[in-house]
Amino acid sequence: MKVLAFESSCDDTGVAIFDTEVGLQADRLYSQTALHAQYGGVVPELASRDHIQKTLPLLKAALSDADCSLEEIDGIAYTSGPGLAGALLVGACIGRSLAYSVGVPAIAVHHLEGHLLAPMLSTPKPEFPFVALLISGGHTLLMSVEGLGQYTLLGETLDDAAGEAFDKTARLLGLPYPGGKALADLATKGTPARFIFPRPLLRQKELNFSFSGLKTFAVNTWQKSAQDDETRADIAYAFEEAIIETVCTKCRWAIEKTGHPRLVISGGVGANQKLRATLANLGQAHGWETFFPEPRFCTDNAAMIAYAGSQWLLAGKQQGLAIEIHPRWPLA
Ligand code: KG4
Ligand code: ZN
Repeated sequence: MKVLAFESSCDDTGVAIFDTEVGLQADRLYSQTALHAQYGGVVPELASRDHIQKTLPLLKAALSDADCSLEEIDGIAYTSGPGLAGALLVGACIGRSLAYSVGVPAIAVHHLEGHLLAPMLSTPKPEFPFVALLISGGHTLLMSVEGLGQYTLLGETLDDAAGEAFDKTARLLGLPYPGGKALADLATKGTPARFIFPRPLLRQKELNFSFSGLKTFAVNTWQKSAQDDETRADIAYAFEEAIIETVCTKCRWAIEKTGHPRLVISGGVGANQKLRATLANLGQAHGWETFFPEPRFCTDNAAMIAYAGSQWLLAGKQQGLAIEIHPRWPLA
């Protein structure tokens, strides 16, 4: 079965084709990061307009990459939530109406389910069950993944996503958006222990996260210190250390709680080298396997939507004719 998919929930336009017999045939992505950089964050209206402009050219390119015509497509998947309403509408309208016009089933996919199943596109792929840590600019959560449609939320952020906290703190330190990578680079020049940031929600075996306090702590520390390059690097160090220690501890608790033998990391913050090294060491010490899928499957993409959609279509599920979006949509 060949499934064509559209992803447009936030600031990436994706079009992909996944063949359940052969694998991924096309995976086109256009990132709007440069468009939003001047505003220091995603501007929803600009995102929607850009998705409108980019989706059809990407579709053409994806069909050409896969060397296939629309008539050869067996089903069409699209992200219908959660995300920005206007942005979601673009992919949902195009995906649903294209499926109608070609006469194939359509399937609406939950964006987070796409993320949870994305590691299945990577090699080696993890076996079920696993604990998924999804950590990006838009999401931070721990989920128990037992199989298709079998997901249990273990914990999630109560305020900012980890990447959002990285970006906001990076901005405070004068780094350009999105600042996660730049902040991590700056942290390598920091002096350990000059500043100690709090470890949010780390007292009880609590699996929810909270990062907005760290950002405030960074602001207060900055305002009370000599605002020089050394302080900048020391704050970056202390901030990154607090996030990593919090996230790693909660991953360990999630593994203990579920008894699952593997941990899968996805999302843009999963690119953080110190986080990767710490999680890998922790896994070795405690006897679980740690998977870091290829970065292109960890960040937003349409391949994961095509994969998730194909699994539901194979299971016999399909969408009615209504074009539905769910900007807020709990995975449960
Ligand atoms: O998954 P992703 O590409 O998309 C969104 O969720 O939008 O994640 C992007 C996030 C940004 O907040 C970015 O600053 C962060 O991932 N990020 C990092 C690193 N590389 C990207 N955060 C910390 N360390 C990094 N090396
Ligand atoms: Zn995402």
